[in-house]
Amino acid sequence: MKVESVRGMRDILPEEVPLWQKLEEEIRSLFALYGYKEIRPPLVELAELFSRSVGEATDIVHKEMYVFPDKKGQMLALRPEATASVVRAYIEHGLYAKGDLAKLYYIGPMFRYEKPQKGRQRQFHQYGVEALGSLDPALDAEVIDLAWHLMERVGLSREGLFLRLNSIGCREDRPAYRAALRAHFSGRKEELCPDCQRRLQENPLRILDCKEPQCQGAIAAAPKSLDFLCEKCRAHFEELLAILEDLGLSYELDPRLVRGIDYYTRTVFELCSRELGAQDALLGGGRYDDLVELLGGPPTPGVGFAGGMERLVLVLSQHGLSQDEASELDLFVIPIGEEGKRRAVGILAQLRRRGISADLDYMGRSLRKAMSVAARRARYALLLGPDELSQNSATLKNLVTGVSSTAPLAEFLSNPRSFLGSTGT
Ligand code: HAM
Repeated sequence: MKVESVRGMRDILPEEVPLWQKLEEEIRSLFALYGYKEIRPPLVELAELFSRSVGEATDIVHKEMYVFPDKKGQMLALRPEATASVVRAYIEHGLYAKGDLAKLYYIGPMFRYEKPQKGRQRQFHQYGVEALGSLDPALDAEVIDLAWHLMERVGLSREGLFLRLNSIGCREDRPAYRAALRAHFSGRKEELCPDCQRRLQENPLRILDCKEPQCQGAIAAAPKSLDFLCEKCRAHFEELLAILEDLGLSYELDPRLVRGIDYYTRTVFELCSRELGAQDALLGGGRYDDLVELLGGPPTPGVGFAGGMERLVLVLSQHGLSQDEASELDLFVIPIGEEGKRRAVGILAQLRRRGISADLDYMGRSLRKAMSVAARRARYALLLGPDELSQNSATLKNLVTGVSSTAPLAEFLSNPRSFLGSTGT
């Protein structure tokens, strides 16, 4: 019987990988440009880390987390997101002791037991940044600027994107807002789906994330968090808006945006694509000024975002901006006859040791067929026929221009790079 991959967890196949690698390189270099350093937390954490930070009442923890006991009965979880892990690591390794802003980034797989659909998998990959240690709204703006900049860098135009932005206030503002939401939704309880009826008791903020059509009327009329901000939170938000305007970064205020995670305070945002349909958030983030303390560290504010790699790949391929058709190899060796084949193996080994990406026809193809494979895969073909071998030379063909030249083999092997540049691409 055939064993298949797990539903919602897919292979990223060799033909897709160059685009992934290119995006990962762009992401890493841009994050470094803004002063972020990579951190690589484990994929498995204590389940409690997420129930305490992301929140017991969230869909992520309540419904979607992969939880399992280890052999000692400890409850572990495959990480559904990485902010909690980064904060745990920040506390565990005393990164705050350095007394500076900690700017950390990550790229890697996350796991959520969601219903798979376009742009939504059970294993997916996030790239994200977390800046810990400052309350300055200029830092919120910098993080949002980084998000926009990344989209530009990978080739998406601003017109196809929009930024949803809101402030949900601090822990002092929350009780009044929560009470107002509870009062509002209690009055319309019979309209709510069973999940939202539960959320009404546990955390009425989570009702605002609900996508069920039956709940949308009550959600549209719900009180807005912006009306419940204290003076400091209001000033913080106004300054953020002013900086975004100075930077020329557009945003749409969305009073219903609360994001489906409990740790957020003040700023929340999502950068969305106009072309992705239901799963339109390319990335999402915000402030989490209480999270470090909540997880046992000293009071330390934080702000960050994470984006889905699969969704980025999806919009880029919809734009035909996927992968360059550039050949992957410098050179393809085409031996003619038995003697040529024997020599080719050694030549190939030498070329690779000199840093030339090269391959050989192992399939016993005819010269014509081998040339067409070479033309698809490489910039140059190296022909080793009886004539060349008797003269200890090699014929190098530029597969882009079609120009051929013959050179002494020893000379070519001592400095192949100079020949590969010289036939004129
Ligand atoms: P999130 O909104 O849950 O936030 O996820 C961030 C992004 O990950 C989403 O905008 C989406 O692009 C992608 N994503 C989420 N779930 C899936 C899925 N099942 N399949 C494919 N892509 C998905 C967080 O995870 C926060 N930790 C972000 C953050 C960082 N906030 C502050 N710092």
